Amino acid sequence: MAKIMTQLHQDHINLSRLLAVLKSRLAELKAGERPDYHLMQDVVRYVVDYADTHHHPLEDVLYQYTIEHYPQHKDILNEVEHEHAVIKAASSGFHEVVEQILLDAIVPMDQFTQQLESFINQQLAHLNREEGRVFPLLEECLTDDDWSKVEESLFQRDDPLFGDEVAEEYKRLYKELISESAVA
Ligand SMILES: [Fe+2]
Ligand SMILES: [Fe+2]
Repeated sequence: MAKIMTQLHQDHINLSRLLAVLKSRLAELKAGERPDYHLMQDVVRYVVDYADTHHHPLEDVLYQYTIEHYPQHKDILNEVEHEHAVIKAASSGFHEVVEQILLDAIVPMDQFTQQLESFINQQLAHLNREEGRVFPLLEECLTDDDWSKVEESLFQRDDPLFGDEVAEEYKRLYKELISESAVA
């Protein structure tokens, strides 16, 4: 598998772990408990800061290359690219709502629960579509030569949470992930 695909696939695994953290918080909310909003803020910040600004743009480069060279796949690839834009707007909107809650703004709980649930579902649907349909399609149609050409044009950045070094602002979330996997 091309190096870039291994990376993108690993990003998906990491994102799924974070979405599982949010799912547990959603269950707490539905049970009438007050979840840890700081933890949710950290997860959503990571999505905005890494997935929306690095992971999706890398995929966009890959999708654009494929559209140019294999235009028969343009419909599905344009659709997933469009989802990136929709998801980006939704995540930064949701990030703001979580920040407002932490600043003690009054946000009706049923409204927030719904927003959290649709945030999780939207992220999962996109991820599953890429894993289930788009990535297999790329693996099938791109040649070794295509992969090296496309990889040359990619910009790589360290993952601030799952990379070699955990950035200061993600240390709390990192500890939580370790403790959640210890009990899983
Ligand atoms: Fe994507
Ligand atoms: Fe992705």
